[in-house]
Amino acid sequence: MARRKKQLILKETNNNDYEVKKTAPFFRLQNAYLYKGDVLNRSLFKKDFCDLIVTSPPYNVGIEYNSNDDVLSYEDYLDFSDKWIKNCFYWAKDSCRFILNIPLDKNKGGQKSVGADITTIAQKAGWKYHSTIIWNEGNISRRTAWGSFMSASAPYVIAPVELILVLYKKDWKKTGGTKISDISKENFMSWTSGVWTFNGESKKRIGHPAPFPKELPYRAVKLFSYVKDIVFDPFSGSGTTPLIAALNNRIGVGLDIDESYCNLAKKRILNELNTLNLRNADE
Ligand SMILES: C[S@@+](CC[C@H](N)C(=O)[O-])C[C@H]1O[C@@H](n2cnc3c(N)ncnc32)[C@H](O)[C@@H]1O
Repeated sequence: MARRKKQLILKETNNNDYEVKKTAPFFRLQNAYLYKGDVLNRSLFKKDFCDLIVTSPPYNVGIEYNSNDDVLSYEDYLDFSDKWIKNCFYWAKDSCRFILNIPLDKNKGGQKSVGADITTIAQKAGWKYHSTIIWNEGNISRRTAWGSFMSASAPYVIAPVELILVLYKKDWKKTGGTKISDISKENFMSWTSGVWTFNGESKKRIGHPAPFPKELPYRAVKLFSYVKDIVFDPFSGSGTTPLIAALNNRIGVGLDIDESYCNLAKKRILNELNTLNLRNADE
């Protein structure tokens, strides 16, 4: 029993607070925790600490991030994917679900089946496949390359969608946790249909080169986790996942390698979590 307790990264203290057991956070406000570090560093977190992972890794499409190179060879990108996906498996509880937003495919610099390749890598790492949600991103940038326009010689076919893989570690049925779900009937019925349609987020508005919209972690958190579950994003960027988790009565844990993105996430959390609490105090 005593040994099991030590494995938890977050331990509830007497005053309903959560205490971080292994690494000191970069920032913490209430139930939102931010860590600065490299997802390849397995020793950052304890084994088996999280209930739900919601994330979107770098896509390797030449985005200008501050601290990582987004133009690896395809082999190196798959090797990186293999390593971080294995670390997430190590950090996940047996009942953990893994909601992974990735591209369907890659069209520049040689056609690649990114979605299929990463699904295979995840399964080899031990994750079990549950399903795939198609994210029909309303405002995705439209391409201008047609290949051979109006000729069968070499036309390009590009689907303006992304994938959201739904994977799990050991058992799909959740048995632990608070068992408290807080999703409405309408949302449950709508979101269990595997085509999600909502817009992407503006880079300019958020100040990050590739943020995802709040709607993505919001649906994942409500549909796949119980109240008070620990929700982890190993590529948290502007902090969307830990923010949404904390706003929805979960414990949000974000990790990012870049200090300026951690500061951006801190600012968002300070603004939005505090605002919500001030509003609640007024009511
Ligand atoms: C696609 S963005 C995620 C954006 C996030 N979903 C949001 O809403 O802002 C990928 C993030 O991964 C971070 N990153 C890249 N390599 C990393 C690594 N090795 N360890 C941790 N974070 C990394 C980048 O700094 C970037 O913020």
